[in-house]
Amino acid sequence: MVNTSPSAQRGKVLMHFLVSVDGFVAGPAHDMSFMERTTVRDGLHQEYVEALGAILTGRYGFDSTGGDFRPYNGAWTGPIFVLTHHSEDAPHTDGVTMLSCSVEEALRIVVEAAGGKNVEVFSPTISAQLLERGLIDEVIVHIAPVLLGDGIRLYEAHDGRLVHLLREGSSPTQTVDLRYTVSPS
Ligand SMILES: NC(=O)c1ccc[n+]([C@@H]2O[C@H](COP(=O)([O-])OP(=O)(O)OC[C@H]3O[C@@H](n4cnc5c(N)ncnc54)[C@H](OP(=O)(O)O)[C@@H]3O)[C@@H](O)[C@H]2O)c1
Repeated sequence: MVNTSPSAQRGKVLMHFLVSVDGFVAGPAHDMSFMERTTVRDGLHQEYVEALGAILTGRYGFDSTGGDFRPYNGAWTGPIFVLTHHSEDAPHTDGVTMLSCSVEEALRIVVEAAGGKNVEVFSPTISAQLLERGLIDEVIVHIAPVLLGDGIRLYEAHDGRLVHLLREGSSPTQTVDLRYTVSPS
C-alpha cells in the first residue's frame, strides 16, 4: 500500500505536487489546465489542508495567478511567503509576504509561521534549492494521467547529483507500477 497521506507527525517540510506521468508540474508558460481533468481521491485535499501551516512559493508561481493565489482552491487559508529578488514591484496581497533573503532564512521564517504544522513548498525551483541543502523532509507526488511533453519539471538539477528517495508505506518494492491506456481525447 502506498501511503501518500500527510505524516501524522507534523512540522515537516513537504514538496507536494500533482505531476504528469512525464514529470512536469505545469505545462509551458505555467499552464496548469491539466489539473482541471484530474480527480483525486475523496478527502485527500482535506488531509493536507488540515496539516498545513504555511506555504513557501516563488515569484513565477505567484505572478502566474495574477495575485489571486488560492491554494487548494481556497480550502486552505494561512500565511503565504513568496521568495523573490524584487519584492518592491509585487502587488500587495492580504496574507502574502514577500521575502528577499537566503533560501535558508526564508524557510526558517516560514517554519516559524507554520506554528508546528507542515510547510508546503509550492515551487520546484525552491524545492531544488532546499533539497540541495538537505532541508526537504518529504517528496509527495500524485500522478495525473497525462503526458505534458514540456513545461516546469518537478525536479531539475544539472550537477549530476542524485537525490535518492525511500518509498513510504508497506510496499515490499521501491518501484511503483502503473499502467495506462491512451485516451482518445
Ligand atoms: N502541479 C502542482 O501541484 C503545482 C503546485 C504548485 C505550483 N505549481 C507550479 O509550479 C510552477 C513554479 O514554477 P518555478 O518553480 O519554475 O518558479 P517559482 O519558484 O514560482 O519562481 C521562480 C522565481 O522565484 C524567485 N526565486 C526562486 N528562488 C529564489 C531565491 N533563492 N532567492 C530569491 N528569489 C528566488 C525568482 O524570481 P525573481 O528573481 O523574479 O524574484 C525565481 O525566478 C508554477 O507554474 C506553478 O503553477 C504546480
